[in-house]
Amino acid sequence: MFVPFNDLTRIHAPLKKVVIKKFEKTVDKNNFVLNEDTKIFENNFSKFTKQKYAVSCANGTDAIELVLRGLEIGVGDEVIVPVNTYIATSFAVENVGAKPIFVDNDEYYLIDLKKIKSKITKKTKAIIGVNLYGQMCDTSSLKKLCKEHNLYLLEDAAQSHGAMQSNINVGDNSSGATYSFYPGKNLGAWGDGGMVTTNSYSTYKKMIKIRNFGSVEKYYHEIQGSNTRLQPLQAILLNEKLKYLYEWNEERFTVADKYIESLQDIDKIVLPKTLNGNKHVWHLFVIQVPNRRKFMEHCKNSGVELGIHYPLPTIKQNAYKKHSQNKENFPNSFSEYKKLVTLPVFPKMEKKEINYVIKVVREYFN
Ligand SMILES: Cc1ncc(COP(=O)(O)O)c(C=O)c1O
Repeated sequence: MFVPFNDLTRIHAPLKKVVIKKFEKTVDKNNFVLNEDTKIFENNFSKFTKQKYAVSCANGTDAIELVLRGLEIGVGDEVIVPVNTYIATSFAVENVGAKPIFVDNDEYYLIDLKKIKSKITKKTKAIIGVNLYGQMCDTSSLKKLCKEHNLYLLEDAAQSHGAMQSNINVGDNSSGATYSFYPGKNLGAWGDGGMVTTNSYSTYKKMIKIRNFGSVEKYYHEIQGSNTRLQPLQAILLNEKLKYLYEWNEERFTVADKYIESLQDIDKIVLPKTLNGNKHVWHLFVIQVPNRRKFMEHCKNSGVELGIHYPLPTIKQNAYKKHSQNKENFPNSFSEYKKLVTLPVFPKMEKKEINYVIKVVREYFN
């Protein structure tokens, strides 16, 4: 048996025809940039996330840049980010001219609240909480902390489409939440795509301009901007997929639940923990195992495809060789990263596949 890490064909095949048919209409109209398709998807995404405004853009990295620029964060500013995230979070901060300041993660792989205060300086303008692997960071406590220090709170929600924290939605406690529609995400495009949601009218107005050369009226540029726009084909597809996102997230939950139930007795595995009150959308099911190389070899030989998220903490990347925190110790992240392994979780995963993954993992520890 072979169990892939993800199989997008299972969710795309039933939608392919309808999406291509809709896109043909767009082709016939020759209306390719920021058209009706984009607007419809933005409206539906803002409804889905229960946020007032949604501004689409070219990818999730641009989405972070867009909101930072919308809040006028840039050169000379510092932005606090978790060290355990995909590199895009801190790169986006640098792309606007600001400096990322890294903080260790907690037992949930989320930014460690206890370690943030000591990193706040006069230059700090914002904290980006990353809702990593599919669950929200503690946005209520982060909001409080930000209020005390007069900082913006942002959420990098690239991995948490549809997640909640009790009755709090992604974006409710922050000045903006940013999404990626990279193909493998819970809501993924046939290519790249991104979105910022916000409840602030002024930030929304600003971002609408920045993503389109600082302009609302063609050839009139009110502020400096760039070109970061969601393509209509992606908007059409994402709009169709959005109808199933809730159901697909539930399916992910079923897989994760089964893994937890079936693997919890194995002492050598550290299973993922869910923060109290969180509705986890299980973008990734990350465990820790000793001797990862051997474990992965065993799974590969048995036909189970695995991932690693991420093989190196951001600060250990070559790109950060010259960063002032390059020699700093991040005890949680540094003691964990060599043990991280991700098991397959995706919608339309079959029962026999889930059971097979469990069997293969159990075999290794027996
Ligand atoms: C946490 C996180 N932030 C940001 C991004 C960047 O998104 P994109 O690849 O669409 O630029 C990703 C995507 O991989 C991500 O996982």
